[in-house]
This record gives sequence, C-alpha cells and structure tokens, in this order.
Amino acid sequence: MRIARHGDLVTIDAPAKLNLFLELLSRRTDGYHELETLMVAVDLCDTLTLRPADHATIELRARWALPRGADVETLGGTIPLGHENLVVRALEALRQSAGITRGADVTLTKHIPAAAGLGGASSDAAAALVAGNLAWNLHWPREKLAALAAELGSDIPFFLGPPVAICRGRGEVIEPLRESLPPLDVVIVRPPEGLSTPAVYRHCQLPERPQSVVPMVEAWRRGDLAALGRALANRLEPAAAQLSPWIERLRRAFDGQGCYGHQMSGSGSSYFGLCRHARHAAQVAARLRAQGLGHVMSTRTIGLESERRGEQAA
Ligand code: C5P
Repeated sequence: MRIARHGDLVTIDAPAKLNLFLELLSRRTDGYHELETLMVAVDLCDTLTLRPADHATIELRARWALPRGADVETLGGTIPLGHENLVVRALEALRQSAGITRGADVTLTKHIPAAAGLGGASSDAAAALVAGNLAWNLHWPREKLAALAAELGSDIPFFLGPPVAICRGRGEVIEPLRESLPPLDVVIVRPPEGLSTPAVYRHCQLPERPQSVVPMVEAWRRGDLAALGRALANRLEPAAAQLSPWIERLRRAFDGQGCYGHQMSGSGSSYFGLCRHARHAAQVAARLRAQGLGHVMSTRTIGLESERRGEQAA
C-alpha cells in the first residue's frame, strides 16, 4: 500500500493480491472455513483518495480506469457507490467506532477486476481505513484497524500488513514474511465471467489430509522458482471449475506457455501464471490476449522494499 499526503488529501494505491497457495482445513460452525493461504500483493493497484468533509456523510465517486481493449463487464460491471461498497462500509464503521461525526469525499479509480479472487474490494476497504485514520487524525495503531477490518471481511487485514504473508483462521490471522524474497513476474487473466465467493465456498470439498504451505515458502526462500511453481495449489479451484467453464479453458490456455506453474487465485474467477522473467510475462500476455480469454494483465509481486518506501512517505 503506497500512501501519500498533500494537505488534508490522502491518496493510497491499493494493490491486488494473489493466493499462491490455498488449503482448506475445516468447516466452522459459523459457516466459514479454516484455511491456510500464502498471499502476495501485486503491482496492480486501485487508487483511493480521501478528503475530510464538513458534511456528515461518506460520498463515494468511483470509475473503472479502462485499459485499452477492456470492457466494463469483463472487469466486473457497475461499481456500487452506496453501502454495498466495502469502502463506504469500512469508513462508516471507522467513524462509528471512533465516535466522530465528520464525513469524507472519497474517489476510487479501479484497475483491479471484481469477482476475480484478486481482493480488489478488500484492498480498497483497507486503504479506506488507513486513509480515514490519517485524514481524521484518529492515530489508531494498525492492530486496532486490523481488528475492525476483520469484522468487515476475511481478506481485509492482510492488506494492512506487509506484502507477503501466510494467512490462517478464516484469513484474518496474519503471519507476515518479513524478509526479502525474489519478485515474481505473473500474468493474470480475468475471464468474461466473475465468480461469487460464497457460491464457490458452498461447492468446495475438504481434503482428507490437508497440504502444508511450508514447502512452498522454503522453495521461495531458496529462490527455487521452479519448485515454487510446482507447489502452487488452490483447494477452491475444483469448486470454481464446476461453476464456470472458464477455469478449465484458462488452465488449457496456460499449459504450454512455459510458466513455472499456473492456477486460479482465491475463489476465482481470475487465473494466473508464474513466468520466468518480465519479458516472458509480456510474451505470455500477448499470446493470451490474442486468444480472447478476457482481460489479461502482466505484473509483478510487490516486495518489502517498495512497501517500506510507501510507508515512509505517509
Ligand atoms: O469474509 P468474507 O465476507 O470475504 O467472506 C465471504 C464469504 O466467503 C463468506 O460468507 C463465506 O461464505 C465464505 N468464506 C468461507 N471461509 C473463509 C472465507 C470466506 O467460507 N475463510
């Protein structure tokens, strides 16, 4: 999360995430699933600005930043502006918990496709909490923001921390990897249809013996990206493939592209390939674009170094 402040205007770049590994451990009595996932932020960002206002409401304006050749439907359709938007819910919750009456004018420029398993709405909500905390001079520590974030959505706390983390519980228990890891060049495809997270979880099957994230983390620490590619795993992918034919189509499209590995991110519907280097990613992206599979993005994982620069700027 890159943060900038000019006077009372706070601007935040809110990154997307990929799940390199996602294993289900058990079904809970509250309807959620215990999981173990390795999440990494990627350099594909929405931009949120927030200015404190004298009126007592949260006024959100939002638009898609349409890249060349993209259509709004493939990115996720109309962006909700009211309470259905997590940004508004997050700021209302923050205002209520902090006991303040001031409102805010918020703009959101979206690059991260929705209903895609890329965490766009969660990242926007995390950015809104950080922006509100700064702009309203609340001085809440990150842990306090994270507790509120966890009430709003399982993936939101991850975006308040470092860019690579193992997440457990229902996703809100974060173990950051605070070390320098080789960046990963990735190609992400958001097919023309999105997927609903609750629907995918309703169709998922628990494994008899859950896999551990440890071999993947060790491979990345060694810099063995081929082993990291082989360790990619997502227990939600079979469920998503039952609901959308695009998952199988994308798997076939990535086969033979020379990636270290490829799989769906989160609860889908987007699918990514782990490329050998930036040039390889550009080539894979060009070939997949030519196949008309949806919206194709070539990007890179975010490291601790750029994250620290972003934090210092705030
Ligand atoms: O927490 P969040 O609102 O993102 O979750 C959306 C839905 O995804 C939940 O209502 C639940 O159906 C499912 N989910 C789950 N287990 C998780 C996370 C989400 O079953 N760990």
